[in-house]
Amino acid sequence: MTKLKWGMIGGGEGSQIGPAHRLGAGLDGAFDFAAGALDHRPEEGRAYGQRLGLAADRAYGDWREMLEEERNRDDRVDLVTVATPNATHFEITKSFLNAGFHVLCEKPMTMTVEEGEEIVKIAKAQGKICAVNYGYSGYSLVRHMKAMVARGDLGKIRLVKAEFAHGHHADAADADNPRVRWRYDPVQAGVSAQFADCGIHALHMASFVIGQELERLSADTVSCIESRVLEDDAMVNMRFDGGTIGRLWTSSVAIGRQHGLTLQVFGEKGGLRWSQEQPNQLYWMPLGERLQVIERGEANLSPEADRTSRVTIGHAEGMPLAFANIYSDLAEAIRAEKTGRPIDPAADLYPRAEDGLRSMAAVFAVAESGATDGAWVDARPPMFR
Ligand code: NAI
Repeated sequence: MTKLKWGMIGGGEGSQIGPAHRLGAGLDGAFDFAAGALDHRPEEGRAYGQRLGLAADRAYGDWREMLEEERNRDDRVDLVTVATPNATHFEITKSFLNAGFHVLCEKPMTMTVEEGEEIVKIAKAQGKICAVNYGYSGYSLVRHMKAMVARGDLGKIRLVKAEFAHGHHADAADADNPRVRWRYDPVQAGVSAQFADCGIHALHMASFVIGQELERLSADTVSCIESRVLEDDAMVNMRFDGGTIGRLWTSSVAIGRQHGLTLQVFGEKGGLRWSQEQPNQLYWMPLGERLQVIERGEANLSPEADRTSRVTIGHAEGMPLAFANIYSDLAEAIRAEKTGRPIDPAADLYPRAEDGLRSMAAVFAVAESGATDGAWVDARPPMFR
């Protein structure tokens, strides 16, 4: 089958997440980078797009221009990635879905629960994919954890413990730096800072691996740096719909922690431990036996892990390859749709708009609970209650 065509909005020169998307989308040769509106400054966006190899007439200065031009082309892009700042996600994603494009939107998908519900409804009505980039769910051993839980290796899951705690905003002397300050300002960031930025990754990963949805939560949110209005640290207790108890810690003042995303899952028959900074090893402790180290790239782990492992065992795989696994899922889904064949179940794991919506409901629940001394609150979006 011919290559699919891919377009990108945001992710301009010097952006944090743009390069990981371009590496991920390009890895398997499934997508050709064909169009982009990469920067909020039109001329910089056009010039950078052309330096990356885009044709001059598809290196756009503005996403609206890209939408109008691409929708009228016979060779329009098959998938659009939205990697702009958070407050723009809703309008751009909605516009491209309404014009019949598949979209991969960065997290958080929207700024409100209502916007999230609207995106879910539009994607469904248009019959288009709206994926959300919980890219860390693309790691091979995260997929393997999910497979182990699903096939019952751990028995019933009692507890899940997720962390996303780093120390990059811990310097009180730097708290007024404009690049840091906006993140804790409700006018620009919304109702939550650290949970909305990082906590939702940990929550999605917990939910993805145990195969359960969050029902309710109780949150302790604090601003360790007093000048901040929004939280820089949160501890969240959770209950999932399959009966599992969840604990989640997220922080931006944990000095010495780098990226800090980890997951532990404890069932009746064993426990799993995985850390994103050593993603090629998964620690598995079956009840009453010795600790085992499962290596990424071992033969016959699970179809989900085998499919997403690219490099021979012993060589490190990292974050852009996890993103590549999301793109490979999306390529499979788009090709299955184009040819009317069923999708490979081992690839049908990309995070959906519904996940983006559930995250928004959790963000608002954390803010509400944090403001009421940790009262337990319903964390489900109204449309899923
Ligand atoms: P950034 O500030 O480093 O880069 C944003 C880019 O978007 C810049 O190139 C800017 O010129 C461009 N841009 C802004 N407005 C635009 C517009 N209207 N049209 C076209 N381009 C526009 O931001 P960063 O850190 O790359 O974050 C972008 C998004 O990715 C955020 O929503 C963030 O939450 C998310 N993110 C996700 C991660 C993940 O692991 N899934 C990790 C880091 C960020």
